[in-house]
Amino acid sequence: MRYKLRHLEPSDGRALFEFYFTGLSKTDRKFFGQPYPLFLQPLKTVKELRQRIKKWQLENDWYFFLLYAGEKIVGCSMLKRCSTSRPVTGIAIHKKYRRQGLGMILQRVIINAARNIGLKRIWAAAHDDNIASLRMHTKCGYKTTGKEMLKQSHREIEMKMEL
Ligand SMILES: CC(C)(COP(=O)(O)OP(=O)(O)OC[C@H]1O[C@@H](n2cnc3c(N)ncnc32)[C@H](O)[C@@H]1OP(=O)(O)O)[C@@H](O)C(=O)NCCC(=O)NCCS
Repeated sequence: MRYKLRHLEPSDGRALFEFYFTGLSKTDRKFFGQPYPLFLQPLKTVKELRQRIKKWQLENDWYFFLLYAGEKIVGCSMLKRCSTSRPVTGIAIHKKYRRQGLGMILQRVIINAARNIGLKRIWAAAHDDNIASLRMHTKCGYKTTGKEMLKQSHREIEMKMEL
């Protein structure tokens, strides 16, 4: 399989919409809460998503990478708030493309982007029952900070990586 990596553009709206609603399960979407404000509910149409991408581009403080296999998005990773003291990362891989190392590759992409803009550390947060994410982040070099955020239905484990 040949993969292509690119930055998110409004023209990716349709493929991203499909990835989000068919490539991820309902639980995955709950886990992948990071890419504010792209997927804040209710998101109903591709047109709406394209508009959100355009608007979000104006903020100019995030990276959002897409991994394509042909015409289909099979993964994405993001880095948000490059200009503040606590840049956060997020990642999701299409449910049919997992356990092939793609999550690790997209993490590497984000880590390199963060280093290139001079960041010294990055953060991630995972639901306490999201074993896949906790293990993947640990494998990449993130360490738990000991801080846990109590949400309505779950706890979130904070992780940090020194770059
Ligand atoms: C977390 C996620 C991105 C991992 O993507 P992936 O491409 O399957 O990950 P990789 O194949 O690169 O796996 C890297 C490591 O993560 C761990 N891992 C991944 N999936 C796992 C699972 N289901 N159970 C246990 N460990 C897992 C393993 O340590 C794995 O290394 P190994 O294969 O050598 O054992 C993917 O499961 C996903 O998209 N989940 C839904 C969205 C989400 O939870 N995002 C994270 C929000 S914090």
